[in-house]
Amino acid sequence: MPAERSEAMSRAALHRSLGDCILMGVPQRITEVTALLAAMLAPRAPLTVIVDGGDPGAAAVFAAKLAAAFPASSRAWNIDAVLGLTGPGADGFDSALNVLEPATDQILVYLRGGPRNRFAAGDGENRAQVVIDHRDPEWPVIRHVHPSLADPDRWYLSESRAFFAARAANWDVKFGDDLPAYAKAVQDSGVRPGDVVLDVGCGTGRALPALAGAVGPAGRVLGLDFTPDMLIEAGRVGRDSAAALIVADARRLPVADGVADVIFAAGLVNHLPDPAAGLAELARATRGGGRLALFHPIGRAALATRHGRMLRPDEPLGEARLGPLLAGAGWVLTSYEDGDNRFLALATRL
Ligand SMILES: C[S@@+](CC[C@H](N)C(=O)[O-])C[C@H]1O[C@@H](n2cnc3c(N)ncnc32)[C@H](O)[C@@H]1O
Repeated sequence: MPAERSEAMSRAALHRSLGDCILMGVPQRITEVTALLAAMLAPRAPLTVIVDGGDPGAAAVFAAKLAAAFPASSRAWNIDAVLGLTGPGADGFDSALNVLEPATDQILVYLRGGPRNRFAAGDGENRAQVVIDHRDPEWPVIRHVHPSLADPDRWYLSESRAFFAARAANWDVKFGDDLPAYAKAVQDSGVRPGDVVLDVGCGTGRALPALAGAVGPAGRVLGLDFTPDMLIEAGRVGRDSAAALIVADARRLPVADGVADVIFAAGLVNHLPDPAAGLAELARATRGGGRLALFHPIGRAALATRHGRMLRPDEPLGEARLGPLLAGAGWVLTSYEDGDNRFLALATRL
């Protein structure tokens, strides 16, 4: 047997056994995510997976499991070529997508790992067709799949719930200091005694006590969220006394047309796969002349820095984009504030 051939064969055998080793004890969550990706993306083979990040070991486990989830006939797999890839960033790891262009018909899977803010200087993530949030290597979550590859209905609900479920128990520990900002935002949203208010994407219900106080005994507050763990946490800390808590998707609210006087939505719109459709559904649930408050306790620039990403002007909450988005959905933007300390956009239902 020619020397090169036997060397290639032993390299292949080594790769197989490395693959077996790193797949032992793989968390169930990785199995779920990779199976879902393979089910959604297999018809688009061949697949190129770019693995980069500060933790090549964990990245390798994910990458190997993803490769194994695809039928052999649809894999274009070269783990060596992508592990440990460094870009032009000064401090070691950079997004592989900042230095590589995707080949025609191939799918790039961008694996986020390692220290935060690594990608703030690059635009790699925005070019990825698939984004996996891999900050917790035991709990990877699909955060983005380009709509041309898969309908969001196939992955958005289960993956967003997985993302927030893992954070529910610690949400208030982490963000509890923001409560006065919620009270002030409710005050500035023009909620009146007797109003019916929906807090859509209410999470652990940080706005609910202030909303209940503003509507008074003649009013009514509903807290809606599609992550049951968030609502369980809201109940655990007693916020179920301020509002009825309902498991519901903001894209299909379980309420009649025109029920709400005010919709309060903190940190929701950025998580909707189709913000225009989401805002239209909020409009459907609101009476003519009713109001919408889109809030976040820190501004967009500060939030982008916290998440280690670049702020893009075409994001749904950017001022240039939000006005037209709201107008197309049945709202008129009446005030827009995006400072360091809070984001608050108010709109009125046409
Ligand atoms: C960033 S958190 C904000 C939670 C809460 N409003 C707060 O300010 O603390 C976003 C929340 O929106 C929920 N969410 C995201 N997309 C949703 C959807 N389509 N329908 C209902 N809830 C959604 C998540 O489960 C999560 O609780």
